[in-house]
Amino acid sequence: MTQDNVTDDRTDRSTIVSPEDAGNESETPDPSGESSLSRSIAAEGRDGERVGTAQTVLEARDLNVYYDDVQAIDDVSLAIPENRVTALIGPSGCGKSTFLRSINRMNDLIDAARIEGELLFRGKNVYDDDVDPVALRRKVGMVFQHPNPFPKSIYDNVAYGLRIQDDTENLDERVETALKRAALWDEVKDQLDESALDLSGGQQQRLCIARAIAVDPEVILMDEPASALDPIATSKIEDLIEELAEEYTVVIVTHNMQQAARISDRTAVFLTGGELVEYDDTETIFENPESQRVEDYITGKFG
Ligand SMILES: Nc1ncnc2c1ncn2[C@@H]1O[C@H](COP(=O)(O)OP(=O)(O)O)[C@@H](O)[C@H]1O
Ligand SMILES: [Mg+2]
Repeated sequence: MTQDNVTDDRTDRSTIVSPEDAGNESETPDPSGESSLSRSIAAEGRDGERVGTAQTVLEARDLNVYYDDVQAIDDVSLAIPENRVTALIGPSGCGKSTFLRSINRMNDLIDAARIEGELLFRGKNVYDDDVDPVALRRKVGMVFQHPNPFPKSIYDNVAYGLRIQDDTENLDERVETALKRAALWDEVKDQLDESALDLSGGQQQRLCIARAIAVDPEVILMDEPASALDPIATSKIEDLIEELAEEYTVVIVTHNMQQAARISDRTAVFLTGGELVEYDDTETIFENPESQRVEDYITGKFG
């Protein structure tokens, strides 16, 4: 569905580590300029698994998530490939949102939530003490079910993340680029100073995607991003998600199985109790799943 010759030459992969800890590395500097994080991935070789030729960007290992005594994710291990769309599907309450939030540590904001196991981003456990969750969330952005633009202008919404980082060089150009990548520019270029709240629901959702893109993430997490939208707006978001995968790694939660079948390259099926039952190429999951439970779910016998 997306291109297969993905190469990776970015070198800023260690930026999720908080600055005070980043300087404490005992390693000698590498004259190649490669970050220590990407070197550790290559050296360990454990993240070299590929889907087609795509590299693993995110990997859960024996991940368990609890809310007080309730287990929401049950010993999940899975590797998510770069520049692909990975869909998480399954019935309501099976832990899809919880899994998604564990990737960029949004569960940190829920007092009752407790995590065991590892969640690796480019080979680095995001739960390590030296990881700065705010920096992580810039690299691993999130878009929610209900569009949540700030009560500000269209321009100010997209510029927001860059301004709070004090990173305002070429701001106009970067706002324009983000809006173009979110397939919104043509619709809003003459009204950038108008309130984002006057946009339609579908436009607001694309604006939220532009806002996430503006700070140059590698991964975009989406939790049912189209479920509050009408069919035309939904179709635009679906087209956009497929385009985004050329630049970004997309992980999308959806309870709409047709949507997962249409737009994703890989599909993970969660079932009740937060168990990952099957994870494979989307075509295999929908046409020839291994598990009877998955087949029953896909064919609508429950869920
Ligand atoms: N903030 C929370 N506090 C307590 N329990 C929660 C919270 N969020 C989710 N849960 C519970 O965790 C389980 C998984 O929920 P969730 O991840 O929202 O599933 P899904 O997104 O698949 O519908 C459910 O039993 C749900 O009630
Ligand atoms: Mg959910």
